[in-house]
Amino acid sequence: MVHYIIVITLLALGLSPHCLSSKTVGGGYLYPQFYDHSCPKAQEIVRNVVAKAVAKEPRMAASLLRLHFHDCFVKGCDASILLDSSGSIISEKRSNPNRNSARGFEVIDEIKAVMEKECPHTVSCADIMALAARDSTVLTGGPSWEVPLGRRDARGASLSGSNNNIPAPNNTFQTILTKFKLQGLGIVDLVALSGSHTIGNARCTSFRQRLYNQSGNGQPDNTLDQSYASQLRRNCPRSGGDQNLFFLDFVSPIKFDNSYFKNLLANKGLLNSDQVLFTKNGESRELVKTYAYNQELFFLQFAKSMIKMGNISPLTGSRGEIRQNCRKINA
Ligand code: HEM
Repeated sequence: MVHYIIVITLLALGLSPHCLSSKTVGGGYLYPQFYDHSCPKAQEIVRNVVAKAVAKEPRMAASLLRLHFHDCFVKGCDASILLDSSGSIISEKRSNPNRNSARGFEVIDEIKAVMEKECPHTVSCADIMALAARDSTVLTGGPSWEVPLGRRDARGASLSGSNNNIPAPNNTFQTILTKFKLQGLGIVDLVALSGSHTIGNARCTSFRQRLYNQSGNGQPDNTLDQSYASQLRRNCPRSGGDQNLFFLDFVSPIKFDNSYFKNLLANKGLLNSDQVLFTKNGESRELVKTYAYNQELFFLQFAKSMIKMGNISPLTGSRGEIRQNCRKINA
């Protein structure tokens, strides 16, 4: 409470409450008004470029939402995912979860280019990704929230962090939950954030195992609806077609709604990591049902969990930097 009052006072005086950042626990100090004076158009710039990109290609909303997730789970939300390989940096773009899969980098570049013209050296790439994730959600019909801002950009990447921290679609429920807990997120966040799979695509290679040989006995996954499975097999053969694309939510693939959860109730989750939320744990099963029956509750929790995810170990104060080009660290 005292902290809150100090921050409000500092803001009222037009001062940055950054001096308090080291005192806070569970991440640095972020707040939605961070750029109100230094770059009042920051949010509008992100919104406009994202809107244009999504109008051109609806899937881009999903890709931008996922980018923020894959950034935050590796050394925190610090734009490490955007760095290309160079010098001592090995790009996270090469990791298993990202290779041939993570996309949207050109849209971030475009936002950054406009941003640097409007207010040079001011808005971080990490904040741009957090805003783009929110705007992508809103543009596709999902909830909105105020994005806490003030993240700074990392001066390094972690390929191993990207490989190890981001859950894989064939991980067990327990492994996935553990990976979330290591980031300070819980089962409620896991289920709500998985609801992101209400938009976007996955490649055949990400779920093939379920169609042909789920547990090494040459049988398909028995928690996958059999007619849905045979439909998927048509374009996801036993071998080949690795990069063929499928909607994560076949009912409303470009609409952010709760049909992802309804699909799980009907054994029509695409990824193993989706369906296990309904089949492997009582508590998550109840959450899936809750969100399937009540979209409003899903939206409320999704917004909360996105803010929580966006708070994972940000660089604040004088740590990190404001990159000029999101793909490389400043000279
Ligand atoms: C719970 C563990 C999760 C696993 C195992 C997982 C796994 C995956 C996989 C395998 C894909 C398809 C990638 C491909 O085949 O190219 C995917 C796509 C996607 N994921 Fe997740 N994901 C998880 C959680 C999340 C979270 C927390 C978010 C966002 C907050 C998210 C957002 C997305 C989106 C939007 C797509 C579609 C991207 C596109 O179309 O470009 N996922 N995910």
